[in-house]
Amino acid sequence: MATLRLGDIAPDFTQDSTEGRIEFHKWLGNSWGVLFSHPKDFTPVCTTELGATAKLKAEFDKRNVKVVAVSVDPIDSHNGWVGDIEETQGCAVNFPILADPDRKVADLYDMIHPNANDTLTVRSVFVIDPNKKIRLIITYPASTGRNFNEILRVIDSLQLTAHYKVATPADWQQGQDCIIVPAVSNEEADNLFPKGYQQIKPYLRTTPQPNA
Ligand code: BEZ
Repeated sequence: MATLRLGDIAPDFTQDSTEGRIEFHKWLGNSWGVLFSHPKDFTPVCTTELGATAKLKAEFDKRNVKVVAVSVDPIDSHNGWVGDIEETQGCAVNFPILADPDRKVADLYDMIHPNANDTLTVRSVFVIDPNKKIRLIITYPASTGRNFNEILRVIDSLQLTAHYKVATPADWQQGQDCIIVPAVSNEEADNLFPKGYQQIKPYLRTTPQPNA
């Protein structure tokens, strides 16, 4: 199994899910994707994470992002767990959870880190663009629930920087100033950024978010 890196094509697979069989690339179609792993069904942190993600469905939809979770447990177990998630988190699970009892997905995406735990997956997140390229990889330990607003924030940055010659600074949020990429000359910047820009250092130029 090769290590997956940013820019690699996300491995394709076919696997059962709580919403039927999923052929991953076909299922993604022209959407962005978020694939995220859970150590085990019926565990407390995972239960809160799936509820948090379900509540953000409209935000993912707005960004043309399909979300899919994976846990190595079988489909019967998932079907029981989604009832608990709805009951305890106040929101139905509105995206598929892949069953992965043969660890096909976990192995393809290197989600089991044996020195952390040799049977459970870590909390991996992969953001995949419409060309099926991996654009973000985050790995959290089993003991720490993820921040799904941070995943949305990165998707906002990825989608913005795909269209404009900007990067986003630390802790950037939608609507805030961006950084002009160093490859753009000042002359080019005059044309590309009609809202103007501020040169703090020759390598640090900020401009209002171009599409805000
Ligand atoms: C949890 O999701 O709560 C969890 C899973 C594995 C280890 C620790 C916590």
